Amino acid sequence: MSIIKKLNNDIEKLVEQAGYKVENLALQPSGRRDLGQFQLNDAMTLARTYKKSPRLIAEDIIKILQQDSRFTNLNIAGPGFINITLTDAYLGELLTQIYEDKNLNIDKRPRKKIILDYGGANVAKALHVGHLRSANIGEALKRLATLLGYEVIGDAHLGDYGRPLGLVVLEIKKRYPELPYFDESYTGDFSEIEPPITNSDLEEIYPYASSKSKEDEKYLEEARDITFKIQNHERGYYDLWKKVVEISKKDIKQVYDMLNVNFELWLGESDAAEYLDELTKIYEESNVLIESEGAQIIEVKEDSDTSPMPPLLFKRSNGTVSYETTDLATILQRQKEMNPDEIWYCVDARQGLHFDQVFRAARKVKLIEDKVILEHIGFGTMNGKDGKPFKTRDGGVMSLKGLINLVEEETRKKINPDTVEEDMREEVAKTVAIAALKYADLLPFRGTDYIFEPEKFADLEGKTGPYLLYSTIRMKSLLTKGESLEIGKITQFKTETEKDIALTILRLPTTLNKALDSRSLNDITEYIYKLTSLYNKFYAENKILTEEDKELQKSWLTLTKIVYDINMTLLDVLAIKVPEKM
Ligand code: ARG
Repeated sequence: MSIIKKLNNDIEKLVEQAGYKVENLALQPSGRRDLGQFQLNDAMTLARTYKKSPRLIAEDIIKILQQDSRFTNLNIAGPGFINITLTDAYLGELLTQIYEDKNLNIDKRPRKKIILDYGGANVAKALHVGHLRSANIGEALKRLATLLGYEVIGDAHLGDYGRPLGLVVLEIKKRYPELPYFDESYTGDFSEIEPPITNSDLEEIYPYASSKSKEDEKYLEEARDITFKIQNHERGYYDLWKKVVEISKKDIKQVYDMLNVNFELWLGESDAAEYLDELTKIYEESNVLIESEGAQIIEVKEDSDTSPMPPLLFKRSNGTVSYETTDLATILQRQKEMNPDEIWYCVDARQGLHFDQVFRAARKVKLIEDKVILEHIGFGTMNGKDGKPFKTRDGGVMSLKGLINLVEEETRKKINPDTVEEDMREEVAKTVAIAALKYADLLPFRGTDYIFEPEKFADLEGKTGPYLLYSTIRMKSLLTKGESLEIGKITQFKTETEKDIALTILRLPTTLNKALDSRSLNDITEYIYKLTSLYNKFYAENKILTEEDKELQKSWLTLTKIVYDINMTLLDVLAIKVPEKM
């Protein structure tokens, strides 16, 4: 349990001694620091329960608190707000405890098994800007939830099923008809053959085939036929498709590596395919499949709906299954193979209707136990300056690699040539670019759209990744320079800034909890900025390494180490890497 929670519990007991029962008492940071560090507002609610004036209740509480040597400057403001300040000695003691054990500044939760579906890259298509947020938010949520005690299994859930695969294989067939995959008399081992295709070929082939299929009905028909062949594991076609997946996956992995995104599972839509028969049987036996113009649909409307809720398309009239259905099959698969407590989907908010339909259809036949929570964690889009989803200059979809390059052009200018050796500069510029992009992406509440502004993201000042990296590196360098000095105890505070830092440190557990509860990283990105700028103010106000008062110096170095450790922990939660120098 965090020490701040323990303190809250202690105060709860003291309030009880004063004759009042409060549940989940929580000190609030005071808006009026001249009156106190913390505020206790419970006298207002207690007044209603105990039918007594809040002022009198506050006085009773204060009388008890005054007997406790941990508190000072106790006073009542307004109708009954109690202001509480911790003595310097006690505040220092709390901080020293955190220095000794980081876990005392975190509230762990009971274990829970969560499958986190994020990333959502599609095979044979380049990752684009739309996939960026799922990767960033998903990875950070996974790390945060893990830090707080959950077991989280991240699944890439590759888009490797459906029409795109038929299109790609068809186009390869048109270009290389002589390949053994298309030769029915071939009896050799396909795994020994390498198709003459690279990932950049795929990135050209898919858009080509896709637009061709829109104009050419016969071509589309052929692609459908091939999709059907692949889905039925027909020799040759199926083997070529598996090669395509392999080639594409290698490239997708590279981009995710660049973003410090690691999946525990690399399953795809196609992996759920083996559950399709069982899934169909479940729905058939429950009599919820409705025939509609040759297709099969499921009604998911509920009486309380205020907006349109179209039925879920289970099977198309041509026999192929929809994206909704592969998601249903995946739920069945996850329940059977992993038995999770919750499944989270970190996917663009514009897919909200899709998930409503899928979750309702799943509940309808109890595809998953009622107690298992299904949650769509939607997010807004990254827009261009025109307020529309960010595009390339000629209006095309921006690839993720292209986007990273744009930010890198800006961060390259920020690397200090005096500190970073020439052969390292490119790599550092890349690390800083990823940090810039991620921090900017995680700064607004996840549901909010934001604008892509690479110059701003790369700024060394303000709420940016580079500012945090630069400051954190400076803390580390100070600690290294002061290695031979004493560290490990906080016994005094010279200025209010130091106490502000200390109080901000104590707010870490609340911040982490709030972030996890809201499934958004904005509280963390704001917090780390606040802590860092307070620290930088303190750093500018004092000469730590040459301080003559050794006790004070020790307190300062200890404070520095705690802030540094928190920054490193939080940057790691955000999946932001810190370079040695920049
Ligand atoms: N591949 C999909 C896309 O690019 C995202 C998949 C999200 N996950 C899911 N279970 N539907 O839009």
